[in-house]
Amino acid sequence: MRKRTGTKLSIVGAGAVGTSLAYAALIRGAASEVALMDINEKKVHAEALDLAHGSQFLPPARIDGSSDVAVTEASDIVVIAAGAKQKPGETRMDLAEKTVDLMKKIVPGLVEQSPEAVFILVTNPVDVVTQAVVKISELPDGRVFGSGTVLDSSRLRYLVAQECDIAMSNVHAYICGEHGDSEIPLWSTSTIGGVPLSQWEEQTGQLSLARRSEITERVVGAAYEVIEGKGATNYAIGLAGTRIIQAVLRNEHSILPVSSMLHDWHGISDVCMSVPQIVGRSGVVKALELPVSAQELVGLQNSAEHIRSVAASLGF
Ligand code: LAC
Repeated sequence: MRKRTGTKLSIVGAGAVGTSLAYAALIRGAASEVALMDINEKKVHAEALDLAHGSQFLPPARIDGSSDVAVTEASDIVVIAAGAKQKPGETRMDLAEKTVDLMKKIVPGLVEQSPEAVFILVTNPVDVVTQAVVKISELPDGRVFGSGTVLDSSRLRYLVAQECDIAMSNVHAYICGEHGDSEIPLWSTSTIGGVPLSQWEEQTGQLSLARRSEITERVVGAAYEVIEGKGATNYAIGLAGTRIIQAVLRNEHSILPVSSMLHDWHGISDVCMSVPQIVGRSGVVKALELPVSAQELVGLQNSAEHIRSVAASLGF
């Protein structure tokens, strides 16, 4: 095992998402080593070289790229972004079977190279893929989790901030459940500057039920809108993934809506789904059972069932 002093981030999959993740992580100085791995040796070498050529303008970091899994040796975090990308009109769940098959092939070798690492899944459908990798890896639950609805929650906060002309940092709202069509906004516990949304509407006339429904539709449809226009989403998921990576490597104990195996979360168990969770150096530390409305709980239960049924159809 190599003797290292800093922290090593390995990213598996040098496509638009994986390279955006690497780019964002390097700019944020998230790790002292960044290794890119992809089956396409020529591309992954070129991606690593292109990133390394910018090293003068980055916080110090070693940058490697290879098709050999050994490049990921002794990682602190392994982010898996490899897999097929959604085509226009395709749902994330449409990718489930081929992506889970890919995980069966690559995960054992990655775990062998980095048995102590935290594994973060970004590949879609991320909840089903996370559920499969929890079982394939045989690692403790908390050490394997998915980026979940961190990105969706960012989209929600962005739209609410735009609607109310308020700084995003003062908008606290979660999207939970599936990172996908069945995701649910937790409006009942959302606040702006500490003001519950129910009172915000009374005070300002903003964020009526109708407007909130429109915002929800735009969040759920956000990826489709971007994919329609540019063929993929990559920058926002790269930034969201970097946020999660920093929470782990800095042992922040930040609360983020990531996807992990739930155990009796409002009665929901044995499914990987996003709820607000404490994230630190060991991965997911604890799921927070924040209050939800009866209507939100029904939506979350539906979301859990949707994920569970697809995972079960693939043997997970
Ligand atoms: C998106 C992809 C990452 O929502 O699923 O942009």
